[in-house]
Amino acid sequence: MLKQEINELLTQTGPGTPMGAMFRQYWIPALLAEELPEDDCPPVRVKVLSERLIAFRDSEGRYGLMDEFCAHRGVSLWFGRNEEGGLRCSYHGWKYDVTGQAIEIPSEPDERHSALCAKIKLKSYPLVKIGDVLWTYMGDPATTPDLPQWEFARVPADQSFTSKRWQECNWLQALEGGIDSSHVSWLHSDGLKNDPLFKGAQGNKYNLADRKPFFEVVESDGGLFIGVRRNAEEGHYYWRITPWVMPSFTMIPPRGDHPIHGHFWIPIDDENCWVFTYDYHPVRPLSAAEVQAMREGKGVHNEFVPGTYRPLQNKDNDYMMDRAAQKRGDTYSGVKGISMQDASLQESMGPIVDRTKERLVSTDSGIIMARRKLWRAVEALRDEGVTPPGVDVAHQEVRSAAVVLPKDQSFIEGCADDLRVRPGEKHASV
Ligand code: FES
Ligand SMILES: [Fe+2]
Repeated sequence: MLKQEINELLTQTGPGTPMGAMFRQYWIPALLAEELPEDDCPPVRVKVLSERLIAFRDSEGRYGLMDEFCAHRGVSLWFGRNEEGGLRCSYHGWKYDVTGQAIEIPSEPDERHSALCAKIKLKSYPLVKIGDVLWTYMGDPATTPDLPQWEFARVPADQSFTSKRWQECNWLQALEGGIDSSHVSWLHSDGLKNDPLFKGAQGNKYNLADRKPFFEVVESDGGLFIGVRRNAEEGHYYWRITPWVMPSFTMIPPRGDHPIHGHFWIPIDDENCWVFTYDYHPVRPLSAAEVQAMREGKGVHNEFVPGTYRPLQNKDNDYMMDRAAQKRGDTYSGVKGISMQDASLQESMGPIVDRTKERLVSTDSGIIMARRKLWRAVEALRDEGVTPPGVDVAHQEVRSAAVVLPKDQSFIEGCADDLRVRPGEKHASV
């Protein structure tokens, strides 16, 4: 349970809010690189941290992210013309470069033109392609951190796949689903048996057999390692360890030799978020069959309303709930697919869940510690200017792991090496 004011502190990320200030300390995913596929392609509207922005790629391949609205009289630049090194407003032809600087005001007399242009600059943020993602940093330019080092974005292109989907609830309740390992044995029990990106792993057996997982949560430099243990063979436990790096990166523990996957949960505004979902293998290319399955919405990906990033199963169609499949036991909740099983339940809590009413239990310990860590970091930044965990790129070099350990061994000692990035070495997985 949280006090109402703490719930507001953690869920509000617009300009001027304390949590918004914290999100603005990090490089965060803004959109997929596939959305700006070529030079001079159509601009894309991007709303992130409650700011309405426009992203574009100019004639020289430079990326820009700036205020969506023209400095002249506020027209949306989405209607603009992306041509000859800049984005031109369709109303009176004012033109901006990727930094938001006005470079042409064609109606003005020549003698006034350059002085006027020099005075007009839209708010803008850097936009950088790393892996399949275009990243932005929306904070003070003087404290721009090093570029992101997440392994999924840094491995060769054929080893990684990223999708994104719109989720209609606050970022924090989506993130909390990502660090709540206990729901897997119920909500996703069908996926462990049937999904091509999950099935066949030895670990699935332990997952399905032991529905009373024990949580052990350990602080890391960038956030937490959330360890969850279930019974394995005599004298052993099966451990699944989920890293959470602040503010909103999570990595699901792997299964067998399947690629590893996870999420970035990025606020669009306080009642919506983008879920960036990555899948990568540290040492081998993804197979054609794996990529095909990801494109078809298997694993932790999903199908889309054509031409959009809205899931095909969404709250307007009750996520295509199938009561007969639920009754037969094909799915536990009646909703198909891991990500839509999660999204349907998280959205059902309302846009911002009232955390003053919840009744937390032992399996919520990861969530409790993550909230506390966020809350402490938000206050330290606001009150003392302390840079939060996760900004330092060394904090980003983490991996999830799924291992079997002797009962007397703690996970943090038993697999310390497995929880950091080891280039060229496979992830630890059973
Ligand atoms: S409103 Fe954009 S040029 Fe006039
Ligand atoms: Fe889930």
